[in-house]
Amino acid sequence: MSSLNVEAAVRERYAQAAQEREAELCCPVDYDAKYLKVIPQEVIDRDYGCGDPSKHVRPGETVLDLGSGGGKICFIASQVVGAEGRVIGVDMNDDMLQLARASQPKVAEAIGYDNVSFRKGKIQDLAIDRDQVQRYLAERPVSDDASLRALEAYLAEQRRESPMIDDESIDVVVSNCVLNLVDADEKELLFDEIFRVLRPGGRAVISDIVCDEEVPEEMQADPELWSGCISGAYQQAAFLQAFESAGFEDIQIAALQLEPWRVVKGIAFRSMTVIATRPEEEPVDGQDLNGAGTFDGCQRVYRGPFKYVCDDAGRMYTRGEVCTDDLAAAASRETIADHFAVYTSDAKATPKSLSLPTTSDCCSGDSCC
Ligand SMILES: C[S@@+](CC[C@H](N)C(=O)[O-])C[C@H]1O[C@@H](n2cnc3c(N)ncnc32)[C@H](O)[C@@H]1O
Repeated sequence: MSSLNVEAAVRERYAQAAQEREAELCCPVDYDAKYLKVIPQEVIDRDYGCGDPSKHVRPGETVLDLGSGGGKICFIASQVVGAEGRVIGVDMNDDMLQLARASQPKVAEAIGYDNVSFRKGKIQDLAIDRDQVQRYLAERPVSDDASLRALEAYLAEQRRESPMIDDESIDVVVSNCVLNLVDADEKELLFDEIFRVLRPGGRAVISDIVCDEEVPEEMQADPELWSGCISGAYQQAAFLQAFESAGFEDIQIAALQLEPWRVVKGIAFRSMTVIATRPEEEPVDGQDLNGAGTFDGCQRVYRGPFKYVCDDAGRMYTRGEVCTDDLAAAASRETIADHFAVYTSDAKATPKSLSLPTTSDCCSGDSCC
């Protein structure tokens, strides 16, 4: 299917599914019931997610939900991040946006604050706000070469001067069962966009449908299977590789469904949730070794159970071996720190009875000496 056909099939299917619940698109997910109480029933009924990325969101964070549909994940995340945090949902479908926007004041009234906004856009092109483009076109319809050039110039300016989602403005990008719907030719762009909008150290938490065999061409050409979250599914390893290719690190499978959601032509499709981190900035002299954590003077030793492991930047950690300073800095990253035992070196240790500045930071948690 061409990009346009993919998009048309997806638009049509989800315009319908916003009006009326489509059981075929529903994959049972256990959300935390306490967050559902304030969400209007029509949003809960139109739950077309396949996982719960909101479990990995923290208070105070700025969250971007790709393909927000009726808004359920945004409304859950809104409660998790609290009044200090912010949530932005992006969807390209007018009917879904209407459902989400109509529900927003109801949720806000129930929780006592409004920290959610819904934007119209394509998730593979997060710079362009399609509500704004629609307003532009209403005033200046494209009818000839000059008006086309004017539109192109307008879009270029939007990207440059006021992108819908700014570079490095988001703490966590979440998405629930949407990436598979994007045309194969645009998936790389999509991962680049996720990387662009995340701040260094920010996380992508993506629940999506994956499969363990290649999807044959005839299935990929079937609009019903594509819009039904089947044909566009990544193979498991390719999904993880897409994060790696975009530059993410500490990529991990946070959840993988035991039983398949669907089996089509002998291929099993199931839900997977992946967490991946945009690496911190490159080193600032003497502060941040390898741009991957700060060396705090503590010794770090990889605990095992594997004989050795390698991170996404190619650093090797050998079980039981004391990390060099640069590896120790990398090992202090929040995303991998639990895999390392931490202790103070004899020379730096401070007897507990002395009230000198201590190295107790090394001793937080059960890895303590
Ligand atoms: C399977 S539904 C999931 C909706 C929601 N995340 C949930 O958990 O219920 C897919 C949603 O993604 C939207 N969508 C699909 N492709 C998109 C794209 N390229 N850009 C923006 N939205 C897209 C659809 O309009 C639809 O609302």
